[in-house]
Amino acid sequence: MTLPPPYKNKVVEPIALLDEAGRRAALETAGYNTFLLRSDDVFVDLLTDSGTSALSQEQRAAMELGDESYAGSRSFFRLERAVQEVFGYRHVIPTHQGRGAEHLLAKLLVTPGALVPSNLYFTTSRAHVELAGGTWVDVAIREACDPQSLNPFKGDVDLEALDHVLAAAAERVAFVRVEACLNMAGGQPFSLGNLEAVRDLTTRYGVPLILDATRISENALFVKDREPGCGNFELAELIRRIASLSDGAVFSSKKDHFVPIGGVLALNDDTLAERARELVVVYEGFPHYGGLAGHDMEALAQGIRESTDERVVRHYVGQSAYLGGLLLEAGVPIVVPIGAHAVFVDAKRMLPHVPQHEFPAQALAAAIYLAGGVRSMERGIVSGQHGHDPYDGLELVRLTLPRRVYGEEHLRYVAEVVASVHARRDEVPGLRMTYEPEVLRFFQARFEPLAPLLQRGRRLNVATLEVAVEPSSARSTATS
Ligand code: F0G
Repeated sequence: MTLPPPYKNKVVEPIALLDEAGRRAALETAGYNTFLLRSDDVFVDLLTDSGTSALSQEQRAAMELGDESYAGSRSFFRLERAVQEVFGYRHVIPTHQGRGAEHLLAKLLVTPGALVPSNLYFTTSRAHVELAGGTWVDVAIREACDPQSLNPFKGDVDLEALDHVLAAAAERVAFVRVEACLNMAGGQPFSLGNLEAVRDLTTRYGVPLILDATRISENALFVKDREPGCGNFELAELIRRIASLSDGAVFSSKKDHFVPIGGVLALNDDTLAERARELVVVYEGFPHYGGLAGHDMEALAQGIRESTDERVVRHYVGQSAYLGGLLLEAGVPIVVPIGAHAVFVDAKRMLPHVPQHEFPAQALAAAIYLAGGVRSMERGIVSGQHGHDPYDGLELVRLTLPRRVYGEEHLRYVAEVVASVHARRDEVPGLRMTYEPEVLRFFQARFEPLAPLLQRGRRLNVATLEVAVEPSSARSTATS
């Protein structure tokens, strides 16, 4: 059944596809790292769903009402009310984006030697805990790291493992972190039943439970669709129920709330919130704006309300399912069940000839760009390896869907490009890392291929779309 979007376009942004020579030059300039490509050199940009969604007319209109007062801004109070009404948290501390909230949380709760058990990890969440001297403890269920397991709730916490950590050292546990729609596992949800059990454990041991609620709307939709007994609840009720099981939350609002910038630290504890307000002044800004403009807070407040609209959430989650379905039909190995915000290609299965220390997912992301100007992101050893510890975990390429931005034709095009790379996968060699940053290396690392990439002719039939211009990275930089 076709799923038309519950919106129509009023403003459009032109995009163009460089010809193959241009794409190859752009990729080389970018050191085979899709993060280092210029957006002008990208045709369909599926790097991330972060800050890339389309605002609604209601958000644009609300921005006109932005109150830019330094203190006591009306826009802050509108944002505070939206968070309180939609999620039920008592205290709202705005931050410039999610990692700003993670930074404050780590400063508040993590002391050297502390532990933070979590379902898998997110890169910046773990980095802030470690910078504060803490240790991350993975308590995800085993299936989280099995791209072929059909478990509908791969975001669940392994309750036995968590109990074990708490029983051994509850006094050292800073907080338990549970992430909604587990990003690094492929956008996989937790079940409400599992979260309730985690809540019981954290209550029993007197440890705070903090949600990474960045993708709570999609998680709630999966609970509604998959968890027995939940089908009759409104999406908004499930979102609120999930939030009510935690003591606080970190939000990167750049995802579910459709805004280009913004984050929230939400807390219930009065004393902790007071301390958070002291810290936000130092690191982000006065507690009534926390690094955001008044108009940003207006767009965010409105976006939070839209994030409970089931038609909107169901449409973009449906887009991931649509793209994933096309890839499965083409025989491309992807993570199943198909996740919330993205389709994750399993590079280990697609490129079995590339050993993991030659960065198969990074190489595959480069090949997908070269084949059709589609930008994706590595989520494998480059992002996931901890220092130089041995790593044999997931090796994925994420095709992430900005919300309300691309249409079905774009998704069909992306599927054709990825399928064309799959057909020529023997022409995708491994890579060598030529530059490695010390922290969060995936953002800025550089690579070179160990053999020519997609070079045996058989071009993808996209010539009619292509424009023969030099990539922007090679053009005059006079205006940049
Ligand atoms: N938590 C989760 C689950 C995230 O996915 C992100 C960001 C953050 C926290 C940090 O938030 O970017 O606003 O500072 N994820 C982006 C992504 C970058 O592409 O998945 P931020």
